[in-house]
Amino acid sequence: MQAKIILLPGDGIGPEVVAAAVRVLQAVEKKFGHSFHFEKQLIGGCSIDASGVALTDSALKACQSADAVLLGAVGGPKWDDPLAKERPEKGLLALRKGLGVFANLRPVKVYPSLVGASPLRPEKLAGVDMVVVRELTGGLYFGKPKCREQIDGRTHAVDTMEYMDDEIRRIVDMAFQLARGRRKKVTSVDKANVLETSRLWRQVTADVAAGYPDVKLENMLVDTAAMRLVSNPAEFDVLVTENMFGDILTDEAAVLSGSMGLLPSASLGSDGPGLYEPIHGSAPDIAGKGIANPIGTILSSAFLLRYSLKLEKEASAIEMAVEKTIASGRLTADLGGTANTTEVTDSILDVL
Ligand code: NAI
Ligand code: MG
Repeated sequence: MQAKIILLPGDGIGPEVVAAAVRVLQAVEKKFGHSFHFEKQLIGGCSIDASGVALTDSALKACQSADAVLLGAVGGPKWDDPLAKERPEKGLLALRKGLGVFANLRPVKVYPSLVGASPLRPEKLAGVDMVVVRELTGGLYFGKPKCREQIDGRTHAVDTMEYMDDEIRRIVDMAFQLARGRRKKVTSVDKANVLETSRLWRQVTADVAAGYPDVKLENMLVDTAAMRLVSNPAEFDVLVTENMFGDILTDEAAVLSGSMGLLPSASLGSDGPGLYEPIHGSAPDIAGKGIANPIGTILSSAFLLRYSLKLEKEASAIEMAVEKTIASGRLTADLGGTANTTEVTDSILDVL
């Protein structure tokens, strides 16, 4: 098949890990007889340096007209001034909004050979296999009013948590669909004892659940969920939640598997291109050293093949090659190994 893939390498280690994933995609292209067209665009700090904005209209348009978008990471100390008008993350928010990708899927899996890398005891990790589904285009990050103003000599700042019922319905429905192909359990996480948006969330979720009698629904308060993710992580199958709760819980869940560098994500809408990126940031502390773990981005490219191009066989082939490489002990420093980015990628390519 033919496909157009936009690459947004971004800042820090972003270009290093995206280059590694492209090598893997090119190997898939060759092995399975596809034709992928890659086009690079700027996002984040490098885009601010080049044009003053974190994502130009033309870069966004290119993404919107592609089949899929593969992103590295944005940000770094150079652009960290909290009062700067344009911040690298603004490009990410604009990209998610512009692509209409309202669901962020983050699987959390524990590789048996890596239980030692996790901060939890091995017995807590047995059976951990979950997907966190985070709402991505609503809630506190986008709600209006959002402002800062002077009132009687004091500085007043406002963010607003807001949701429409249809925004909740589409994300919860996606979670139930996913659960159907898994262990058939959805944990919906909210703060319904305090927040009105959460009470609406619970009501809509009950309504969606009625259409999935084969899937078990459990409602959980976000503070309880934060605790249970470390005290009993194996109980979760699909966890669905609003934007900010999801931002926090996905990072918490990520450390279960030992390194941020391992985990992929997919951001999907109802149609249009999907956005694929590792969950880690631009890791300025190791940028340019060639030692970043490329696996999170390589697994993101497997998701790209699965969800945007419907190439399941190819996606599984990448996942298997990654699993074998991890089991072989060829690991980057974040997992206690001595291999560099190129060596880990070479090893994955060898298995492929
Ligand atoms: P980070 O994820 O960049 O790094 C946290 C720690 O994990 C660092 O010690 C780093 O070296 C390590 N690490 C991350 N990815 C790794 C990989 N692939 N291989 C090996 N080690 C890895 O988070 P941090 O330090 O909080 O943020 C750094 C910058 O990244 C900031 O400017 C932040 O705003 C930005 N950021 C961007 C994100 C994105 O583009 N989606 C997400 C999170 C942070
Ligand atoms: Mg985050």
